[in-house]
Amino acid sequence: MSQPLLEASSISHSFDTLLFSNVHLALNAFQSTAIIGRSGSGKSTLLHIFSTFIKPDEGSVKLFGKELYTQSDAAIEALRRYEIGIIFQFHYLFKGMSAMDNIEVATMLSGEKIDEAILEKLEIKELMHQKIGELSGGQQQRVSIARVLSKKPRIIFADEPTGNLDKETASLVMDVLLDYIKETGAGLLLVTHDEQMAGLCDTVYRLKDKVLA
Ligand SMILES: Nc1ncnc2c1ncn2[C@@H]1O[C@H](COP(=O)(O)OP(=O)(O)OP(=O)(O)O)[C@@H](O)[C@H]1O
Ligand SMILES: [Mg+2]
Repeated sequence: MSQPLLEASSISHSFDTLLFSNVHLALNAFQSTAIIGRSGSGKSTLLHIFSTFIKPDEGSVKLFGKELYTQSDAAIEALRRYEIGIIFQFHYLFKGMSAMDNIEVATMLSGEKIDEAILEKLEIKELMHQKIGELSGGQQQRVSIARVLSKKPRIIFADEPTGNLDKETASLVMDVLLDYIKETGAGLLLVTHDEQMAGLCDTVYRLKDKVLA
């Protein structure tokens, strides 16, 4: 089997108190993995550690076979821009700009083209010319997902991507994410407190009592 896209070992991290210790996780091409846990258990923190944004107190993170913290800032910046896509729990869209312009910012930076099929699947194609401020929370969330997928990342990190959505729209979003993995061979790491969404992934871990199991 080829090397994992992501390989994290012996990860520990504290803010005011210890959040988790000795976390191990590997994510392979074509694989979807969910991490489930209660609010405040440290799921977002763990996702930010795996996706280059927080350096853990202890442990090693390898992306695409290379240890993260021996790489230059420029190399890490390139990973963020071209190789990984992060769907944040609180998405960051430019409010005064249209949905289309928001997506174009990402595709311009990564040198990719907007995938119209993804806009259609997410049922947001008709909204592209509206300003973000005029869209509902769930519509904004789907625009931010389209923005991430349009970069064609090799790993998608998704933090509660269905948090603002009704069940039907949530399963539509999960379908789009899982189809993307199947079609491109990327990996999906999903963080959620929703057992049902987690259950759609190949592997489910639980973050509980400071341990990922
Ligand atoms: N930058 C930070 N500085 C200090 N404490 C932090 C920071 N980020 C997170 N924490 C704390 O770490 C704990 C875990 O936060 P985190 O956001 O990882 O939880 P979560 O499992 O994602 O929760 P939720 O399901 O509510 O999103 C919380 O107690 C939070 O206050
Ligand atoms: Mg969180």
